[in-house]
Amino acid sequence: MMLEGKTCVITGAANGIGRAMARLFAAEGATVVIADLDEGRLGKVAAELSCEAIAGDLTDPAIQAALLDRERVDALINNAGILDSLTPAADVSDELWDRVMGVNLTSPFQLSRAVLPKMIEAGGGAIVNTCSAASLTGGRAGAAYTASKHGLLGLTRAIAWYYGDQGIRCNAVAPGAIQTKIGMRGMPHEGGMSKYSNYFQTIPPMGKSAEVAQAACFLASDRASYINGEVLSVDGGWNAY
Ligand SMILES: NC(=O)c1ccc[n+]([C@@H]2O[C@H](COP(=O)([O-])OP(=O)(O)OC[C@H]3O[C@@H](n4cnc5c(N)ncnc54)[C@H](O)[C@@H]3O)[C@@H](O)[C@H]2O)c1
Repeated sequence: MMLEGKTCVITGAANGIGRAMARLFAAEGATVVIADLDEGRLGKVAAELSCEAIAGDLTDPAIQAALLDRERVDALINNAGILDSLTPAADVSDELWDRVMGVNLTSPFQLSRAVLPKMIEAGGGAIVNTCSAASLTGGRAGAAYTASKHGLLGLTRAIAWYYGDQGIRCNAVAPGAIQTKIGMRGMPHEGGMSKYSNYFQTIPPMGKSAEVAQAACFLASDRASYINGEVLSVDGGWNAY
């Protein structure tokens, strides 16, 4: 099993990609600790996997502390994220900007900052960040989401560079269009939507959460022992178009 004996903390694990990660990581022998805002669905995943769950908003320092309040964390998977309704820059409110940055970038940074000393003390660890096709180009989402996911990739590389020599590996998965409910949370911006409709037909058929989970599992495992600071696209080739 790829993650035997490892304690893996996974955020955004009540639904979609994070839930698929939790299932796969547990099947691969990990002790998983899961976190999400969606208490009801989180409870169901926790019951299914008989694992510990922390319900709450990851931008809350108390929730972050509860999540990492354990002796060891071998892998931290910063997966929770929200969309920005395809909002173009001129229409992004401060509130939308702050919320998207808070969930998609600041929380992963704060959780990484808190977990790094534990990992260093333990002799190493792995961080996997769920970036996005929007980490690599400007034409995959709205302005705030794109900026947050570019930032998350930058954070991934900076952690890899600074802490690689202390046994830390920090990598990213970059999903393309994956079948989850993320796009159903809120109406898309009209202007953003009309712009996107021009190229919708060029997007490959949608992928599955489990396919992203496989990539994250590999990066979290010792099989990726010499891979650090990388981003692995899981997008059916969209990035290559
Ligand atoms: N689905 C896609 O096509 C796609 C593409 C690229 C990247 N991603 C990224 O994959 C990750 C997972 O997305 P998904 O598609 O599974 O979406 P999802 O909406 O199904 O799952 C995201 C989970 O994160 C949780 N969450 C959101 N804000 C939170 C907060 N503040 N605190 C705690 N939990 C919070 C939600 O409750 C939800 O359970 C996100 O980072 C997303 O940006 C998804």
